[in-house]
Amino acid sequence: MARVETTSSRPYHLVVFGASGFTGQFVVEEVARTASEGPKGSLKWAVAGRSKQKLEKVLEQAAGVLSKPELRTEVDVIVADVGEPDSLAAMCKQAVIVLNCVGPYRFFGEPVVRACVENGAHHIDISGEPQFLEGMQLNYSSQAAEKGVFVIGSCGFDSIPADMGVIYTRDQFRGTLTAVESFLTIGIGPEGGCIHDGTWQSAIFGLADSRNLQGLRRKFNHKPLPTVGPKLRRRGALFYSNEIQQYALPFMGSDPSVVKRTQRFLAEEHQATPVQYGAYAGVGGIGSIIKLMFAGMIFWLLVKFTCGRNLLMKYPEFFSFGMFSKAGPTRKQMEGSSFQLSFYGEGYTSGQDPALGKPNAKIRTLVQGPEVGYVATPIAMVQAALTILNEPAALPKKGGVYSPGAAFAKTTLVDRLNKHGIQFSVV
Ligand SMILES: NC(=O)c1ccc[n+]([C@@H]2O[C@H](COP(=O)([O-])OP(=O)(O)OC[C@H]3O[C@@H](n4cnc5c(N)ncnc54)[C@H](OP(=O)(O)O)[C@@H]3O)[C@@H](O)[C@H]2O)c1
Repeated sequence: MARVETTSSRPYHLVVFGASGFTGQFVVEEVARTASEGPKGSLKWAVAGRSKQKLEKVLEQAAGVLSKPELRTEVDVIVADVGEPDSLAAMCKQAVIVLNCVGPYRFFGEPVVRACVENGAHHIDISGEPQFLEGMQLNYSSQAAEKGVFVIGSCGFDSIPADMGVIYTRDQFRGTLTAVESFLTIGIGPEGGCIHDGTWQSAIFGLADSRNLQGLRRKFNHKPLPTVGPKLRRRGALFYSNEIQQYALPFMGSDPSVVKRTQRFLAEEHQATPVQYGAYAGVGGIGSIIKLMFAGMIFWLLVKFTCGRNLLMKYPEFFSFGMFSKAGPTRKQMEGSSFQLSFYGEGYTSGQDPALGKPNAKIRTLVQGPEVGYVATPIAMVQAALTILNEPAALPKKGGVYSPGAAFAKTTLVDRLNKHGIQFSVV
């Protein structure tokens, strides 16, 4: 069972690493807000990063926003830099779980995972970068298992709503669920909204290097997952979705690859029927499509060259038509934003053999919640950590590198998220 107790030499349940980043600030606030949900009603935690001054400012700001002046004095500060392995080891030795908010993970993630595994701290991140997530699985699974350490990636909006949404849909379906499609729509309030530059940078370098992902995947030597029921038909690159009454395209983030890893784990370890999955995102009407195609074409062209990538990084607002910005969204913009992820599943009722005939039952579920990047992501990340601390017996038997669904399928994570504004329901 996962080790989750603090000791005199490992005093913190949680250490938020990268607390001074745009997302880190909101993760700190979410930890402070939910500290009473820690084991036995309390949580010992600290913030970490490479600048003591910045970290003190983060606590100052959280203290003001939450009217909790005690945060200024009661939360410890740990100085650690990704480039200084000794500082990472010292940080990891003090933590039961490191909440790693330092990205892009392709550049900064691996030394933190290594330090966690070597020094016995569980690791949770909010990466949406398949290369990093699958690379860590390839390189650290056995070492993490030996050490009894859980490395659980993509615990933010990428990809907890999708991954746990498919599991929730399967659990609600009476019979054998064989295929699910999800459709994402984002709601933006009158103040508008955007995503911080940190995620833009992760996307630029992820796409620039997407070819290497195929090579990485071959190294797993996986057998193809069996297809149960009819093969799920892939939709086109752009289509009108009757489900969400707007144009949609395949979702470009980590959700499909994360769900697939989870389904493989559940099939191989628990003999569950693998659920086929297709992820799509709504883009709106014709005007949005023209804008998106234009921005997409320029992005694809520039991302291939160093000077193009430099331009993209320098002017995120210009090249993304305002979808990404160096300043990030304001708190007012976040309040007005929301997401809806609709799942359409099909399968066979109990007693009906999937090898004979067409699926004979459908299900529709919904995961909905607040602004994705800096409200839903901190909620998901912190609830993932609280689940480890409170329900270690419900995690997989061995440590290892896991997707969220693989790690949390048998926990109450969905109930916890429901209580915190990320709601799962059958429609
Ligand atoms: N899953 C999701 O849905 C989701 C949502 C939001 C964000 N994210 C991901 O989270 C990551 C962070 O995004 P962000 O917008 O918060 O970026 P950001 O504001 O640039 O924050 C990056 C953080 O990393 C720290 N850092 C950089 N180099 C470091 C080093 N050598 N040693 C220690 N710390 C270092 C920075 O410290 P300083 O403050 O000292 O510079 C800062 O705290 C990105 O990968 C993004 O894609 C994912």
